[in-house]
Amino acid sequence: MAGFPEVRPRRLRRTAALRRMVAETHLRPSQLVLPLFVGEGLTEPREISSMPGVLQHTRDSLRQAASDAVAAGLGGVMLFGLPEHKDAEGSGALDPQGVLNVAITDVVAEVGDGLTVMSDLCLDEFTDHGHCGVLDPDGWVDNDRTLEIYGQMALAHAAAGVDLVAPSGMMDGQVGVIRRALDAEEHAGVGILAYSAKYASAFFGPFREAVNSSLQGDRRTYQQDTPNRLEGVREARLDVAEGADIVMVKPALAYLDVLSAVREAVDVPVAAYNVSGEYAMVEAAGAHGWIDRDAAVMEVLTSIRRAGADVILTYWALDAARMLRD
Ligand code: PBG
Repeated sequence: MAGFPEVRPRRLRRTAALRRMVAETHLRPSQLVLPLFVGEGLTEPREISSMPGVLQHTRDSLRQAASDAVAAGLGGVMLFGLPEHKDAEGSGALDPQGVLNVAITDVVAEVGDGLTVMSDLCLDEFTDHGHCGVLDPDGWVDNDRTLEIYGQMALAHAAAGVDLVAPSGMMDGQVGVIRRALDAEEHAGVGILAYSAKYASAFFGPFREAVNSSLQGDRRTYQQDTPNRLEGVREARLDVAEGADIVMVKPALAYLDVLSAVREAVDVPVAAYNVSGEYAMVEAAGAHGWIDRDAAVMEVLTSIRRAGADVILTYWALDAARMLRD
């Protein structure tokens, strides 16, 4: 048996230096985007019980969080606004003094070009029924009437100085409508990060608490169905054809195969959203001592990169940047 086996992959795993040298995947703070929530009229930051460590920010604490993101070398922030008053049309989304539009202005003023400022472009935070668009008399989310509002919302975000708008409502044609609206008003420089393959997912659960959502019913008539991979690729291709600068797959962990297929199919950067439920799962198990929380965080983020994500939206962005530095 001398000399057998001839091939020994374990040789390259013998020392930490060898393992580091042959690592195929690298994670850098500049690839991470931190989602941030800001609550209209909040005087104190408010904790989100299902997302320990994540806050609903005040105007001031939001600026501080954005400047922490710059100091950590993150790629960007994704802003979500929580209005005090909601209505059926989500009118707070278009008000120039509305919470998200003000937040964009504040954060851009704080960070300059120190990071990429992105905005979630959707109506669900602003509607009293919690859907991503406006409803017709039968309660169906009205695609084309919603598109008109998305176009106006994009202009409000652009006027506030956003770098990339991120339409997340899964309305057909949303990227094209937003691109045309921006271009018609001399905002050709504002880009679109499209939530392209977005699935109706149980992993968005804690996000509902984070944005005070009172969703009536579910999102299955517009968000994608879990069994479908090709459909995710198709949505991503359509978004690229409509002018998306970056496409995104969401959630990440339960859809790594979709992420990998989308990475193969398009030639723009691909992002993945490591969502609230993925965060809560690891935090809860870590808090019980059932898993090593820090190791699990890095394993999750590395696996999302390995599957093909160029950019990762994650509530762990600051923590992960710290771990990468140490
Ligand atoms: C829609 C939006 C959602 C999330 C990001 N943008 C919720 C949804 O579509 O149901 C979820 C993010 C997360 O769970 O972390 N505005």
